[in-house]
Amino acid sequence: MLDLSLLADLGRPIHYYASIDTTMRRAAELAEAGEPGGAVVLAEEQTAGRGRLGRSWHSEPEAGLYFSLILRPPLEAAQVSVVTLALGLAAGRAIHRVTSRPCDLRWPNDVLLGERKCCGILTELAAEGERVRYILAGIGVNVNHAAFPAQLAATATSLRLETGCEYSREALLIEILKETDRYLQILVERDAPAIVELFTRASSYAAGKRVVVVNGTVETSGRTTGITSAGTLLLERDDGSVAPILAGSVRPATD
Ligand code: BTN
Repeated sequence: MLDLSLLADLGRPIHYYASIDTTMRRAAELAEAGEPGGAVVLAEEQTAGRGRLGRSWHSEPEAGLYFSLILRPPLEAAQVSVVTLALGLAAGRAIHRVTSRPCDLRWPNDVLLGERKCCGILTELAAEGERVRYILAGIGVNVNHAAFPAQLAATATSLRLETGCEYSREALLIEILKETDRYLQILVERDAPAIVELFTRASSYAAGKRVVVVNGTVETSGRTTGITSAGTLLLERDDGSVAPILAGSVRPATD
């Protein structure tokens, strides 16, 4: 019998901060103190917002949506890479519902509008052996930003820059939580291949795209050939060998 009650009530309670260093730190603190799954730490501004791979996350006050969601899903640690994909699907679908614009997904879970990134997701896991204690899903969406710092301008965008409209961040938060619930239910009920299939359909990066994968100082270029049921991206290198990509950042190749 599946215990789906752990997925209910995403967004209850919401811990709201006008300004915080990073919602990830506060969410970890709350989770360690026993905060239930579904709780959200939300901030108007982050002074030390974190991105994937040790990067920072630009968190302009009151322009974006910056939150961390505590999840306690009935899953095993090995399924967390697929939770990451499910979160990208959820954010992409929510942004599509709010803007009516088609979103692309870039492995593992960047959401793109017009080929630039409008949403990034940082997933952190606390496990005991194979058992998931909790997952922190840190989601940042560039909603009403009118511009970006020079170093981000070529790669980042906002919902407003893409459509010329301003959006309610509250309405978008509700959509993301609803969609997160939906995709986590799919993962729990139908298992990882269902999420991988949905992600593959929604992402131009999943297969047949020439990309460069950067992991630390190592850059590998090739063509994507699919995503395994464990959530690993497969990259066919230029010499024909296939490399499993477990981590790293993916960008389109320019050649
Ligand atoms: C990425 O590098 O794409 C992931 C970005 C994740 C940013 C969000 S904003 C809310 C939460 N708090 C953080 O410090 N980071 C995540």
